[in-house]
Amino acid sequence: MPLPLRPLLPADLPQAHGLTQAVRWPHREQDWRFALGLGQGWAISEGERLLGTSMSWPFGPDWGCFGMLIVANDQQGRGLGARLMEAALAALGPRAVQLHATQAGQALYLRLGFTPAGIIHQHQGPAIAPPPAPLAPGQTLRPATAHDLPALAALDTTATGMDRTRALSAILAQGQAILLERNGTPEGFAMLRPFGRGEVIGPVAAPDAASAWALIAHYLTARAGAFVRIDITDPALAPLLTAHGLPVVDEALRMVRGTPPAPGTTRSFALVNQALG
Ligand SMILES: CC(C)(COP(=O)(O)OP(=O)(O)OC[C@H]1O[C@@H](n2cnc3c(N)ncnc32)[C@H](O)[C@@H]1OP(=O)(O)O)[C@@H](O)C(=O)NCCC(=O)NCCS
Repeated sequence: MPLPLRPLLPADLPQAHGLTQAVRWPHREQDWRFALGLGQGWAISEGERLLGTSMSWPFGPDWGCFGMLIVANDQQGRGLGARLMEAALAALGPRAVQLHATQAGQALYLRLGFTPAGIIHQHQGPAIAPPPAPLAPGQTLRPATAHDLPALAALDTTATGMDRTRALSAILAQGQAILLERNGTPEGFAMLRPFGRGEVIGPVAAPDAASAWALIAHYLTARAGAFVRIDITDPALAPLLTAHGLPVVDEALRMVRGTPPAPGTTRSFALVNQALG
């Protein structure tokens, strides 16, 4: 008899946190709670012991994300990972799915029909304040409030194809956001929130790399000396990040199953995190 698969519950999260600590993922228990609150999770346990987890998040009718797939080290290789993943993917129905793969997950994801779609670079360290980044004529930066959520969500959808309104609202409730406008029209934003060992900058959406850097530089200045992480999609930002205290420490393979959206005028430069895209 295979061990039963069941929903992942808030009461499982202390053990789930233990699974990620064992592989040195930086998630705090609050980060697990945040992720589960935005989507659905699955678990396999034996008696009182949690053996493995997975999660998925529907972000509108066309797209979903998959992540938090982890199986206890001594239980790997007996099919638990594949079962947890298939359950999470089934919940996304016909949506296209995006994930960010560690080396350990790649064979499974290829077998389930995912194809490589880019490399994500993880940069982190104690931030060094950059000199003020020049803005283009007409561009201004200002703090965003809950009233700006529709504008942030619209920019995010243009950049990613996903409807992550609820996720952005939850991030704003825990952290903060800045909005880039050109002559009063929103054209980019960045968010900052507690995560893992410190704070994470992301998502970042902007029309070009110079604007993305202006948004990121704002938070590096605000957090000079503190531990900051950012997971970037565009390696053009890597030298600037490295020069301001955040060298690259790891990378992940973006994989997609289904048709990605056509890129819009706003591009995604940094992730919420590797699970939520
Ligand atoms: C990735 C992970 C969840 C796989 O879990 P698992 O329970 O071992 O997976 P399964 O037993 O269902 O095997 C799935 C695939 O992984 C590979 N695999 C798993 N264990 C293996 C082993 N001991 N040796 C070789 N390949 C193995 C196989 O390719 C297998 O594919 P197959 O079904 O075609 O044989 C697990 O390795 C893990 O938790 N790793 C650490 C966390 C992590 O990196 N998660 C992925 C994040 S993207």
